[in-house]
Amino acid sequence: HRHLLGIKSLSPADIEMLLDRADAAVAVSRQPEKKLATLRGRTQINLFYEASTRTQSSFELAGKRMGADVMNMSVASSSTKKGETLLDTAATLNAMRPDILVIRHSAAGAAALLAQKVGCSVVNAGDGAHEHPTQALLDALTIRRAKGRLAGLTVAICGDILHSRVARSNIILLNALGARVRVVAPSTLLPAGVEQMGVEPFTTMEDGLKGADVVMMLRLQRERMAGSFVPSVREYFRFFGLDSQKLKAAKKDALVMHPGPMNRGVEIASEVADGPQSVIQEQVEMGVAVRMAVMEALLDPRRNAGGVA
Ligand code: CP
Repeated sequence: HRHLLGIKSLSPADIEMLLDRADAAVAVSRQPEKKLATLRGRTQINLFYEASTRTQSSFELAGKRMGADVMNMSVASSSTKKGETLLDTAATLNAMRPDILVIRHSAAGAAALLAQKVGCSVVNAGDGAHEHPTQALLDALTIRRAKGRLAGLTVAICGDILHSRVARSNIILLNALGARVRVVAPSTLLPAGVEQMGVEPFTTMEDGLKGADVVMMLRLQRERMAGSFVPSVREYFRFFGLDSQKLKAAKKDALVMHPGPMNRGVEIASEVADGPQSVIQEQVEMGVAVRMAVMEALLDPRRNAGGVA
């Protein structure tokens, strides 16, 4: 079975193929009649151990738009609460013969572990601070549609880089497609040796945003900060929150992005989140299309899925 566990396992050609397919899925989703038969008869299970609004709902809609039977496993009311392990839950669901399992979990490597244990395709919908591959694909699609390309663009990823799977997946993808990637954060929220990931680090917004084509904001991942440095909201917003003043350092037509969920007044001001440069709602629309493209590539036997492995 084929899986999508991270951007790391994709070649530039695989990424372009998925973005091209997602473009076609956008067209389908904009029609009044959105239903395809691509995954008719297939069973998709969404298994989310962490909270989600966008990812879970878009995977569900993506599956339904392609005709799959979609089941959302309610982890909060499942036997996980009675002490059942991830692997026992996975074995149980596997016995029900799904074709695709979509998993979000707080542990890095959870999706890869599952992929070794089940007899179906696995999609990583976020594993700890490791990867969130469909987020990076939808971000790339949003940029490509707005700017016509990714190669040569300067993308500034700002905020809690240290705890962010979104940042990791985006850094890998953007580098693969030839963008110049900067990370902008207080030094306490930058991983040690971040330069080795192929990025240029900055510790002020003014320097980091200078001439940027894309400004990508991140949420402070407080759920991953236990025992480490937690900045005060007021101070963080003053120095690293994106407002219209700080945005002036970027190019005039720079895109403002945020994967969501947003904390307004912490990492981003409403004037910018809701402003003319924001493509935050486009990102959400692209999320459904990208998830359709990924599941089609993994499951549709009529298509060559390239190196999605
Ligand atoms: N961007 C993202 O993963 O959002 P959710 O946590 O709401 O799924």
